[in-house]
Order: sequence, then C-alpha cells, then structure tokens
Amino acid sequence: MNAQQTSRPRPRGYVFDPAWELETERLRTNEAIWDPGTFERLERLGVGQGWRCLEIGAGAGSTAKWLASRVGARNAADPAGPAGRVVATDVETGRLADLAACGVEVWRHDVSTDDLPPAAFDLVHTRMLVQHLADKQDAVRRMIGALRPGGLLFLEDTDSLPLFRSAVSEDFLQDIRTAGYGLMRRGGHEPRGGHFDLRLMLQTGLSEVSAQGRAVMIRGGSQQARHYMLWLEYMRPGIVAEGLLADTRIDAALAEMADPANWWLSQVMISVSGRKP
Ligand SMILES: C[S@@+](CC[C@H](N)C(=O)[O-])C[C@H]1O[C@@H](n2cnc3c(N)ncnc32)[C@H](O)[C@@H]1O
Repeated sequence: MNAQQTSRPRPRGYVFDPAWELETERLRTNEAIWDPGTFERLERLGVGQGWRCLEIGAGAGSTAKWLASRVGARNAADPAGPAGRVVATDVETGRLADLAACGVEVWRHDVSTDDLPPAAFDLVHTRMLVQHLADKQDAVRRMIGALRPGGLLFLEDTDSLPLFRSAVSEDFLQDIRTAGYGLMRRGGHEPRGGHFDLRLMLQTGLSEVSAQGRAVMIRGGSQQARHYMLWLEYMRPGIVAEGLLADTRIDAALAEMADPANWWLSQVMISVSGRKP
C-alpha cells in the first residue's frame, strides 16, 4: 500500500505499518485528539487505586501511562506504593519501553492469535484496534476471558463518516476521506467500527452495556491536524497507485489541513463499556 512500508510482517487486517518512519508521530498526534475524552470516561467508570488494568494495542502508550498513575502501579521509585497493575500489549512494543519506569508491564502480544491470562483484570481497554481486526468476535471473547467476574470491558472505535465536515464547503476534503477510507476498508478496516463494538458487547451477554459518541473540532495547522496530514501521507502512495486521486490534489489537501483558518470535525469516537457477569 505504501512505498515507504517495510517488509516486516503485520497482523492480518491492520493497515498501518508499525515500522513506518513517521508512525510514532502518527500515534502521538492521534493521542492528542482522543486522550482527553478517553481519560474522562475512564474516570467516570471508576478506575482507581489498586485496579488491575489491561491496555491492548497500546500504541505509543499514553493511556497505559495514565492508567498506571491512576491505579498506583508499583514502580521502582515507589516500591512500597499501592499495588495496582497495568499491562500494556501491542504487536510492536518498541514505543512502550519507557513505560516500565511508570510501573507498566509491557507484553508483545497479538490479540488475534495469542491467549491472555484468565480472569486476571478489573478493566480491559482498547482504542482504535478492534475495527482493524479480521475476527472481531474472537478478539472480544479473548478480552472478556481476561476479565474477572464483575470486571469492565471498555472498547473505543470510530465511525469515520462525519470526518472533515466543515463550514468551508459541503465537499471539504470529502474526496480525501472517500479515497483514504475506501482503501483502508479494502485493507480490512471497518469504518463503522464502534457500532459493531456495541453489537458485539450486547451479543456476548455483558451487563450494564452503554455507548456514547464524541467528536473533536480540529484546527488546521494544530498537532491534531498533523495527525490527519500524516494519515494522508501514509495513504498517498496507495491512493495514487489506485488512480483514486492525483498527487497534486493530495498536496492541495495537505495545504488545507495546514491552514489555521480551517476547522473540521474528527471522526466520531464511539466508546462502549459493559460488565462481565
Ligand atoms: C490505530 S493504533 C491505536 C493505538 C492506541 N490504542 C491509541 O488509540 O492511541 C492500533 C495499535 O494496535 C496495534 N495492533 C494492531 N494489530 C494488533 C493486534 N492484532 N494485536 C495487538 N495489537 C495490535 C498497532 O501496533 C497499534 O499500536
């Protein structure tokens, strides 16, 4: 899909290359968009001192780090502190190495194929991962297996349809969204992800299932806008190779995204939580 991709094997269905040279920045700018809403919801779910948490597909690690400070994960600086536990997993753990200093355990783990310890956690959270997986149901079943009875599953995935809505014009960047997400969909990404998380949770018999959507207003030229610019740069070779858009159109779109006069809507993040009976 991308000329800059390496030949490193990737999990089935995952469209981004963990080894892309700008992937760390892409993940960090993504955190800048979504972390405030995720942390607010984790607080509302009651996550606190002593909780045992599993963060799956932890990316660049901001949520795992936040959870560690919230639950009081043991760390070298405070060995007698409260004994919460945070485990952060990913297929690519290089970006998570620093988290050990915050008391986070880091596991290289593929949620599509690898087992998790049974009934070991009070909370399992993952953001923007399930919508990439070929067998979502199996991954969610594995996550539920890792929860103790009474534990919480918290899944977050996006609906991309509202992306780039703006006062600029009715079709502001809509050709970019259609081309980029069309290509991602063909690579295995589900653009209505959060809706399926809700359906899966209702089907698995969790109790207290609830769902919310949130969107973020993005200003051109901001750190958040940079995320969409990196996404487009990553998608560019595939978009051009498929004849969906020309390089010149992509350059013009990048200039629109860099312009602080432009504001647009993000995707809608759908947050779904439920309790294991
Ligand atoms: C779109 S990123 C989201 C990162 C982070 N959850 C966030 O929202 O900031 C998806 C992450 O899941 C990881 N990932 C992809 N497939 C995976 C799999 N099968 N098992 C575990 N992690 C996976 C990727 O390496 C990447 O770090």
